[in-house]
Amino acid sequence: MKLTILAMALSAFALITPAMAMPALTPVPAQMTQGEGSFALTAKTRIYVPAGDADARNAAVYLRDQLKARKLTLEIVTGAAPAGEAAISFVRGSSSGEAYRLDVTPGSIIIAAGSREGLFYGAVTLWQLATQDATTGAVDLPMVAIVDAPRFQWRGLMLDSVRHFQSPDQIRKIIDTMAIHKLNILQWHLTDDQGWRLEIKAYPKLTQKTAYRQEAGAAGWKNGKPLWYGGYYTQDQVRDIVAYAAARNITVVPEIDVPGHATAIIQAYPEFGTEGTRPKQGMSDWGVYPNLLNTEDRTFVFLDTVFNEVMDLFPSPYIHVGGDEAIKPQWQASPAIQAKIKALGLKDEHELQSWFIQRVGKSLTKRGRRLIGWDEILEGGIAPDATVMSWRGVDGAVTAAKSGHDTVLSPAPMLYFDHRQSPFSDEPPGRGKPTTLRTVYDFNPALDAMTEVERKHVLGLQANLWTEHIRTDERVEIMVFPRLTAVAEVGWSPAASRDWNDFTRRLPSSLHRLDAVGMRYNTVPFEPHMTLSPAGDKITVALKNGLDLGEIRVNGGVYTAPVTVAEGTMLTAQTFLNGHPLGRERKLSVTRAALETRTSYDLDICEGKLNLALEDDGGERAVMLMDILKPCWIWRGADTSKGFKITAKVANYPFNFQLGNRPGQIIPFDTPQTKDGELLVRVGDCTSDPVARLPLAKAARSTGVTVLTGDLPVVAGTNDLCFTFAQNAPPPEWALQEVRLTPASQ
Ligand code: ACM
Repeated sequence: MKLTILAMALSAFALITPAMAMPALTPVPAQMTQGEGSFALTAKTRIYVPAGDADARNAAVYLRDQLKARKLTLEIVTGAAPAGEAAISFVRGSSSGEAYRLDVTPGSIIIAAGSREGLFYGAVTLWQLATQDATTGAVDLPMVAIVDAPRFQWRGLMLDSVRHFQSPDQIRKIIDTMAIHKLNILQWHLTDDQGWRLEIKAYPKLTQKTAYRQEAGAAGWKNGKPLWYGGYYTQDQVRDIVAYAAARNITVVPEIDVPGHATAIIQAYPEFGTEGTRPKQGMSDWGVYPNLLNTEDRTFVFLDTVFNEVMDLFPSPYIHVGGDEAIKPQWQASPAIQAKIKALGLKDEHELQSWFIQRVGKSLTKRGRRLIGWDEILEGGIAPDATVMSWRGVDGAVTAAKSGHDTVLSPAPMLYFDHRQSPFSDEPPGRGKPTTLRTVYDFNPALDAMTEVERKHVLGLQANLWTEHIRTDERVEIMVFPRLTAVAEVGWSPAASRDWNDFTRRLPSSLHRLDAVGMRYNTVPFEPHMTLSPAGDKITVALKNGLDLGEIRVNGGVYTAPVTVAEGTMLTAQTFLNGHPLGRERKLSVTRAALETRTSYDLDICEGKLNLALEDDGGERAVMLMDILKPCWIWRGADTSKGFKITAKVANYPFNFQLGNRPGQIIPFDTPQTKDGELLVRVGDCTSDPVARLPLAKAARSTGVTVLTGDLPVVAGTNDLCFTFAQNAPPPEWALQEVRLTPASQ
């Protein structure tokens, strides 16, 4: 972190010595200098707000309420602090936008800002100063002078409430936790193929017909009866959430996705779908459906009415219209659509989509709102004032900026929070390729492909949480946090202050704050995981945490190199960073079974076309990593010279994937030799003749994980083993949870 010259200018502030670590504030402020001395914050400290200043009062109330988690309840007083009283004062300063100034000295704390937002962020920073560790009660706040403003105006999170639904309380909890990180945009994905979650008074069937669905496979049944899943937000609930967010300087940007991802609309009102098509009932598949809205005038009357109700509810200057993944086979096949393209003098379906989006945009501009859409809105021509949200990497942002359009960076996979956070098997389900805390922190919004002038079009960045594989509130929380902390810093702090080591120095404080607000976060990437290798009749254990942070303490000592221990040894291991525990203490059991077993996470995926960590839909809902487009796993380097007894755990998925027009949708399965298929094992490469075929008949009668056993023959040397399934076309699709290879001689 850079120290500012300001420190030298203010005689009360001493030069920082190395022993004086800067306060652990995240996002790190633009300028911060530390003095020698402190302010004693106690339950008696009072907060002063100017008479008639509703914005200052909003910030003061927020500060008071937040400090309750420290078990301090401060009194708010109207007026100026009397001379001699060590108090917190909110005052009006000359700063604009979201900027503020915070001065902590032994005799006073002053938060000064010109705007409501600035006053609020001053309060957030003061709360952060008071919550650097897990203590409660009175606290000495370090003497600091902070002059702060954000780098970007758009610091966002997108939450998909369609694929899985979160309660209003859960949304408020996420808003609360965004606020303590100075994040200011919640994009709320409210409509999609799998449901419509926003009450629309003029079109009640939207929620009546699509807010509840039956999940695919075994998860959609209970005691032989269909199990319905879902929910929707009433307009009263939405108004409440929008106001709650606004009090925390968060704008809720609604997303109504058109003309694709619109199956729910067509389920409820088939007259708005492309002629001659009827979506199948159910809507429990993931992926890209072919269903598109039609381009009749009646459809725009519908959209106009819906967007007007949306704009009544959401004061956001930006309204998100989706526009993504609207594949065109239905439009290509529809005579009415083709006639429309001709009548409008357009070239193709992409230009028609552009015309469609621009027509929707007109209802927004009529009410002074701005259209924002996924980067597909660039195709076929973009509306004049549209803002592009770049998700297929950053190319959309570059194209947008070069053509003078504003853009928000939310590229996959770097800012896609449905990706796992580490390679370990105790991560929750999600997309297979890890997007780690470090991946997010290292994302650089100053794109090389843009000039300085073009970079001014980058409004900011946003993490996206799609929830196909994120079924519960707890999983939403641990997929979002702590990664959103990194988004906050990238979005707020000056580019020059970016420093992973300093960010991780402050990480224990960030995690304490998440604890303080009751937000769960993923600890798996911080925790020690073991890799085992044989060492005669003993076992060698190597330990590692996913982020290579801090030190690992094992059985009371510091881990420095792999250790060889007797079979059956129990290790207690935990990561520490600068003396602070990071993540849970893990009990690691060094057994022969663990040595001989590889889970789907430990095996290599053969090709990796579409890797997902998926949850089995029955029984204990085990999670397995697989390539759904080519289920195939490799055990590298097995010593096959003595033969093996093989024990494999397998399960099946409902295979609820719409694969749109993907060319790779034909999954290469081997032909089964029995009715239910077999697990095939090959030695060497995956095209040789199988050396073992384990029938799936028993597994086919179970909804959970099934254990299969068989023998592998002696093959000289060390070889790769390849695992695939011989099965008929899915559903279901079979998956390997884990394999154990026990030497045949045992
Ligand atoms: C997207 O991920 N379909 C925007």
